[in-house]
Amino acid sequence: MHIDKVLAQFPKTPDRLLEILLAVQGHHPQQYLPEDDLRKIASYLDIPESRVCGVVSFYTFFSTVPRGRHVIQVCENIPCHVNGAASIITTLGELLGVKPGETTEDGQFTLETASCLGCCDEPPVMRINDKVYHHLTPDKIKAIISEYREVTA
Ligand code: FES
Repeated sequence: MHIDKVLAQFPKTPDRLLEILLAVQGHHPQQYLPEDDLRKIASYLDIPESRVCGVVSFYTFFSTVPRGRHVIQVCENIPCHVNGAASIITTLGELLGVKPGETTEDGQFTLETASCLGCCDEPPVMRINDKVYHHLTPDKIKAIISEYREVTA
């Protein structure tokens, strides 16, 4: 879908900026927001580009660089950290063969860390695209990743 079609689904009101950014990012197979699209969004909402860029740089779930089809973000904040976030990151790194900040060679997965995913009472937590997973263990991680691999195979 072209970005104009994504934008046309929203009213031209600046209070919809977050939703628009999520929709535009989600429509890219590489889960990111190219500079050109940020310009188009600013123009569509008639707001300064700096405001759009400020929102994009504030939230960890936005990216301006191409990523994998499935973006995995593992929370590293204190409640998740003390409940095993490091072992979750290690397990994911071993399964996928990447470090945080890297994308698998087949372009399917990007591994990232995040400061909080808003589910601090159910640690450790990760998000894959817009789905959040709680109370993670290395075994749960293996099952989740193999489900994604089956779907994308
Ligand atoms: S501290 Fe991990 S989700 Fe908030």
